[in-house]
Amino acid sequence: MEYLGLYPVWYEPGIGSGWIVGLIATVHVLFSHTAVGAAIFFAYLATQAYRRDQPELLEFIKKYGLFLLIFSYVLGSITGPGIWYSTTVASPRGISALIHSFVWKWATEWVFFVIEVVGVYMIIYLVGKVDRATHLRISIIFGLASYGTMLIIIGILSFMMWPGKPEWFVDGGYLNGFYGANTFAQLAMRTAFMFTMTAVVGGIVAGAIKDAAFKREITRKLALLGMAATVAGGLLFQWYMNTLPETAEVIAENRLPAWFGLSLVATLSGIFAWFAVTWLQPRLLTPAIASGMTVAVLVFGLWPEEVARESLRKPYVAGQYVYSNQVIARDVPGLGIESEIPLIERRGFLPSQVFVPDRLRQVNPHNALEAGHSLALTTCSNCHSLSPTGMRPLARYFGGNTDVAMIKTYLQGALGTGNTIYMPHIPLNDAEAYALARFIASLSSAAAPRVAAANLAANPTTDPEE
Ligand code: HEC
Repeated sequence: MEYLGLYPVWYEPGIGSGWIVGLIATVHVLFSHTAVGAAIFFAYLATQAYRRDQPELLEFIKKYGLFLLIFSYVLGSITGPGIWYSTTVASPRGISALIHSFVWKWATEWVFFVIEVVGVYMIIYLVGKVDRATHLRISIIFGLASYGTMLIIIGILSFMMWPGKPEWFVDGGYLNGFYGANTFAQLAMRTAFMFTMTAVVGGIVAGAIKDAAFKREITRKLALLGMAATVAGGLLFQWYMNTLPETAEVIAENRLPAWFGLSLVATLSGIFAWFAVTWLQPRLLTPAIASGMTVAVLVFGLWPEEVARESLRKPYVAGQYVYSNQVIARDVPGLGIESEIPLIERRGFLPSQVFVPDRLRQVNPHNALEAGHSLALTTCSNCHSLSPTGMRPLARYFGGNTDVAMIKTYLQGALGTGNTIYMPHIPLNDAEAYALARFIASLSSAAAPRVAAANLAANPTTDPEE
């Protein structure tokens, strides 16, 4: 018998698995981008220090480097595997798609990362212990290796959005997949913003410098870096948006909140103003204020950006062929992969899934609600929270509608035909559409959360033994 290759669903009530991935990823981006930007900034400072004989710049490298050892390297190394773990359970087939295409790229990235981690210790602890030329060389290798990690990861991130060339679907081949339409735009934009983060976080260290003249010098360097990077980032963002696939444009125009563009401009202007102020009045820079700014960048800059990137990728999680709900959307001869849509149309969702209790495989009046719950978990919960809060709560998206027939018509129309550009094609036969509609209607009625919770407790939907 044919089955869909779906794994059990990881569902977090109240938030949704997507947001957990998003939270970990957003924090990780702050740690990692700051570190890469700092590595390159350090190479520049080291060059200046040796050329102009300004050993105090090495002192700053040492201080900021030590700070980053905890801030970026320890915390980054905790959140990095956190991303692996959470994405693997939230989106096993998305991760599988990436691994099958890029396993050696990842191995390469890891080699660069090892050089980076060794490098950060070396530039901190070898200041004054090795000759200048050697230290400078180490700083430059450290900078390049750090940027190497970024280069590779962006190729992979850009593949998630859109595989490089259309031939990739037919012929495979990682170069075809790796250099996507938005690889370089994304790389350029992130490069700019990583310097913004390096400059903001660097303020935490610079703010603590006692010597007023030295503090002014470092603060101004950071402020100049930050202002240039922020302006460049804003411009490069425009370029990046222009490279997005057509579906992403439709979502960007119709589905991102109206305030998204405005809040982005406001955030960038705020950051720019902050750098301008610290350039004019370096005395105002204190570790506490700089920490506050770092948090602001995280909340008003990175979080919306990561959420938007996730939205713009819809309905896919990877490579325009794995839907966010893990169903394979199309044939990819290059990888020997076939679309699963025909199988679902032929056999229905519930009978063709491995991790569904036998009693739910055929919908009947007694199990309809439960079967609908199971369907919602597999087909919708990756993008819509089933509870009232979290990521795109399903009940809210139906506007409190409790008319089962109407919901069923919507499901079979909008989702069953695959015509909604930002949602997967989800073919549902009459019985399954009815079951799902029942469940959705129950979410909107007052008792809904209790029914849903009770269902969940009484029914470990993902247990094949039942
Ligand atoms: C790939 C992720 C994804 C999946 C899976 C998904 N949706 Fe959506 N859905 C979206 C996005 C994205 C939007 C719209 C944009 C927004 O506001 O963020 C949306 C919007 C909606 C809306 C609002 C009306 C509309 O047509 O825009 C409804 C209703 C809806 N989804 C129902 C469902 C149901 C029911 C399921 C499961 C059977 C489902 N969705 C599965 C991503 C998804």
